[in-house]
Amino acid sequence: MTSYKELGLVNTRDLFKKAVSGGYALPAYNFNNMEQMQAIIQACVETKSPVILQVSAGAREYANQNLLKNMARGAVEYAHELGYDIPIVLHLDHGASFEICKDCVETGFSSVMIDGSHLPYDENVALTKKVCEFAHSQKDYVTVEGELGVLAGVEDDVSAEHSHYTQPSEVIDFVGKTKVDSLAISIGTSHGRAKFKPEQCTRNADGILIPPPLRFDILEEVEKQIPGFPIVLHGSSSVPIEYVHMIEKYGGKLTDSVGIPEEQLRRAAKSAVCKINIDSDGRLAMTALIRKVFIEKPDEFDPRKYLGPARDELKKLYAHKNQNVLGSAGQA
Ligand code: G3H
Ligand code: 13P
Ligand code: ZN
Repeated sequence: MTSYKELGLVNTRDLFKKAVSGGYALPAYNFNNMEQMQAIIQACVETKSPVILQVSAGAREYANQNLLKNMARGAVEYAHELGYDIPIVLHLDHGASFEICKDCVETGFSSVMIDGSHLPYDENVALTKKVCEFAHSQKDYVTVEGELGVLAGVEDDVSAEHSHYTQPSEVIDFVGKTKVDSLAISIGTSHGRAKFKPEQCTRNADGILIPPPLRFDILEEVEKQIPGFPIVLHGSSSVPIEYVHMIEKYGGKLTDSVGIPEEQLRRAAKSAVCKINIDSDGRLAMTALIRKVFIEKPDEFDPRKYLGPARDELKKLYAHKNQNVLGSAGQA
């Protein structure tokens, strides 16, 4: 049993309070390996942004939970060495069961998500409440994110055929009964690089798919029901067309890619949305740069020579998000 405080980590409670009143959102970036971690920390130190490091089920399987936890401990020291101590949260992304959440809490995570969004309402309430009771009763309070409403899209274990928007009429009851610290809602975002079907979009003069707008009316209604309560947006990659084009230029194929436009995320971040989850954009940036090296330097076989440029691009991307999309730059 390790407490996150021993690792130098913090939970989300005070960070969310500040973010809601300050009109910005914290970045929640997924990581699975050292290069992603380095890029996240470099960008967040440079922009003086607090950060949430997210570990998915896929990451736990790929990289080992203990290694990831120790990388988060290393991240605290790395930030210090880079010259600025930023608040760092280690968060379980899409926890699928009470047991997984408990395991992560006991490993030293400072925050967990219990994703009961696919369950009938009462079962979601019961499961989320159970996780909260456990996480909140630790010597050092671990924060819990719940979810109401189902995101569309398909990505690994996180999949839902159709989106069911969050029903604002349920949020007071859910938050009151479960005692969650933050709530993920469904207002039109979804996981992965193809967030909408082409028939849901229009095309601009260059043939680029333009998605339908997020349901800000639902967000506003949720905020009316639970004023100032921390709201989370999953599936918030913007799928930059430059990366899609670069990947295709260097031999990849990513048809019908479409993400959430940055202006809409900026607008959301100014509201009670205080955590914005981004994974796919990082995957695109890394893949684009690695493909470039492979095509332009076919004799290269030192992993540092293609992971290095990918890491540099990732850092640029994250710094841009903090500064221009989330508004978290300068808040650490
Ligand atoms: O929400 C899903 C994240 O993008 C993580 O996906 O399970 O493939 O790591 P993953
Ligand atoms: P994206 O696939 O849009 O990056 O969303 C990531 C996410 O929601 C992780 O929980
Ligand atoms: Zn998610």
